[in-house]
Amino acid sequence: RVVAVIMVGGPTKGTRFRPLSLNVPKPLFPLAGQPMVHHPISACRRIPNLAQIYLIGFHEEREFKLYVSSISNELRIPVRYLREDKPHGSAGGLYSFRDYIMEDSPSHIVLLNCDVCSSFPLPDMLEAHKKYGGMGTLLVNKVSAESANQFGELVADPETNELLHYTEKPETFVSDLINCGVYIFTPNIFSAIEDVLKQKKDRANLRRVSSFEALQSATKALPADFVRLDQDILSPLAGKKELYTYQTLDFWEQIKTPGMSLRCSGLYLSQFRRTSPHLLASGDGIRTATIVGDVYIHPSAKVHPTSKIGPNVSISANARVGAGARLINCIILDDVEIMENAVVIHSIVGWKSSIGKWSRVQGEGDHNAKLGITILGEAVDVEDEVVVVNSIVLPNKTLNVSVQEEIIL
Ligand code: GDD
Repeated sequence: RVVAVIMVGGPTKGTRFRPLSLNVPKPLFPLAGQPMVHHPISACRRIPNLAQIYLIGFHEEREFKLYVSSISNELRIPVRYLREDKPHGSAGGLYSFRDYIMEDSPSHIVLLNCDVCSSFPLPDMLEAHKKYGGMGTLLVNKVSAESANQFGELVADPETNELLHYTEKPETFVSDLINCGVYIFTPNIFSAIEDVLKQKKDRANLRRVSSFEALQSATKALPADFVRLDQDILSPLAGKKELYTYQTLDFWEQIKTPGMSLRCSGLYLSQFRRTSPHLLASGDGIRTATIVGDVYIHPSAKVHPTSKIGPNVSISANARVGAGARLINCIILDDVEIMENAVVIHSIVGWKSSIGKWSRVQGEGDHNAKLGITILGEAVDVEDEVVVVNSIVLPNKTLNVSVQEEIIL
């Protein structure tokens, strides 16, 4: 049997995701019309003998309650949210719920970060892991040398795929092969975390008896029960025939910013084209809008037949799109109203916002730049004939003049 665990972090984690994380925990922000965490959960369904899926985080329990119960019914696999009272780090969080995870006596634990976008090749990875015979297997990916320092950089044996060397976000370049935040472990991972916890406690005790002040202050930096999977577990175990790598040749991205969520929404829409085409708008009826490329429209949204939509557009529940409107590369959240002849390009439009007639809301489309897309927070009103370019607008603002390259607080 296999148990899957998805690390969803907490409110102090998704800060780069503001202003969108002011309304909804980042793991539940919709990509391609489905909560971010829904995509790894769906991927877990393909794992043979999957017994349970746990989400571990320190968000309020009530924020996940509705989603967890609806997804459990839909997938017919128990999905549970387990809340940490405080952050324990990525490995510490896993360890604190070891009793729950081991209830099903799993032979393997699949561990996933919630903020990565991938095709999650879990069954193939599991097969590879069994062949390697180690304690853990990491999904890895090649990225550009300039971007590698945002990730864990690693060196693997080209013949055996053994993880030989691992450094988390190094200042000087090590390798363009990086850690994707997707793992398969045997239950021995808990002994490895326990060893680290024990070493930390011993060191803390040693410092308590020593009078060396500098060392004492160093113990304050991280609590003794805080264990990071990358620095504390992967780095020391590299080169010990315990950890192996499995390289994905399919898409993979990290979702830290709203700009990246727009890009990843598009990646998941194009995956739907292959895996679940029924979720995409077809636009082949007389009474539907003109659809270009991959588009998701929630069944409750009302889209005028003379509007033109796509590619990479995702429209959430109860949104209304007026006559002659044009939408390209955008996420339109619940209850948004887009009036006649408005244009939205390279943007995310927050819940209950409204965009007036003949208005334009647009970004330049650079998903990595701070102001590369335009983001409207919840309940922003853009009045008629106003142009908003490359800007971030915080919730509850009314824009009656045009703005460019601005952050409106
Ligand atoms: N429950 C819980 N508790 N989850 C946590 C905690 C915690 O205390 N700390 C982090 N997480 C979750 C985050 O929500 C995220 O899903 C995952 O654990 C990793 O978060 P970080 O530890 O902040 O690392 P990162 O996202 O900057 O980088 C990690 O992922 C990259 C791939 O996206 C590292 O593993 C990198 O090496 C890797 O390249």
